[in-house]
Amino acid sequence: MKTRITELLGIEHPIVQGGMHYVGLAELAAAVSNAGGLGIVTALTQGTPEKLAAEIDRCRTMTDKPFGINMTFLPSLTPPDYPGLFEVIIDKGVGVVETAGNNPAKWLPMLKDAGIKVVHKCTSVRHALKAQQIGCDAVSVDGFECGGHPGEDDIPNFILLPRAAEELEIPFISSGGMADARSLVASLAMGAEGMNMGTRFIATKEAPVHDNVKQAIIDASELDTRLIMRGLRNTERVLNNEGVERLIEKEKNLGADLKFEDIIPEVAGIYPKVMKDGDVDAGAWSCGMVAGLIHDVPTVKELIDRIMSEAEALITQRLCGILKA
Ligand SMILES: Cc1cc2nc3c(=O)[nH]c(=O)nc-3n(C[C@H](O)[C@H](O)[C@H](O)COP(=O)(O)O)c2cc1C
Repeated sequence: MKTRITELLGIEHPIVQGGMHYVGLAELAAAVSNAGGLGIVTALTQGTPEKLAAEIDRCRTMTDKPFGINMTFLPSLTPPDYPGLFEVIIDKGVGVVETAGNNPAKWLPMLKDAGIKVVHKCTSVRHALKAQQIGCDAVSVDGFECGGHPGEDDIPNFILLPRAAEELEIPFISSGGMADARSLVASLAMGAEGMNMGTRFIATKEAPVHDNVKQAIIDASELDTRLIMRGLRNTERVLNNEGVERLIEKEKNLGADLKFEDIIPEVAGIYPKVMKDGDVDAGAWSCGMVAGLIHDVPTVKELIDRIMSEAEALITQRLCGILKA
């Protein structure tokens, strides 16, 4: 397949792996890039410029294909060294940056000067238009189904993607709820020129996370995610578990009085416990509704090859067959 996204990102298949805290390490990013997609290393998991530089070097020992870096902008009491992280990205000659969480305008001039392609991930048409206006090369349009932060508008991808297609001139990637060839073909039909997957890539052999996490995703159905932190306007879709139920109980009891400090035990420092130690009930960790469509743990290459060959069959046989009928 050739789309504006495969051309822009220099990849064989229109498939991107979204940045994921404690999942988007060199092993997964390299596996996705080696399989013809775009792998993405998550900068904030590394935390410091020195560690990010080392992770980029490590990724380069595993692939000679292009890969990207995710830069997530979050409200934080002790913000990470964003200037230092961007400096490393530029010095290391990384070709693509996925920004998320906030408008990346402040950083765009230095990224563009360095010839870096910027894909901004956003959850609404108005934010996508803003990204286009400030000069982003593409956007990832993240629907309400997505694992992680779906924003506050709650528009699912069957509406959001065609709406994005109506408004945008720059190419866009579908994100949220994407798992297989059906997702890819439907995304292309709705105007996207590639698809981004998060949760699906966690349940792969190369994802550098504890097997309990992969099993929890396989065991989960589409009914097993919950939205948390809506009252704080920081809504996150997570896999339900004991910690999340505790958190939701606090949200119910405290109502409008809920403060971030009230839920620190359920949300702070959870990722290493889940992803490294396999304590999947430790607290809140992002997971998409798409868990209901995930039933196996293939290698990344098996997954991407399967998506591409089934997508071709879906288009040439099922869809063309319907046309001729
Ligand atoms: C465990 C997990 C961690 C994530 N961490 C981040 C992150 O640090 N930064 C970010 O921009 N998106 C993050 N995301 C969102 C993904 O990049 C992607 O947008 C989302 O997973 C797409 O929805 P899907 O899970 O239905 O495929 C995370 C998602 C998951 C499942």
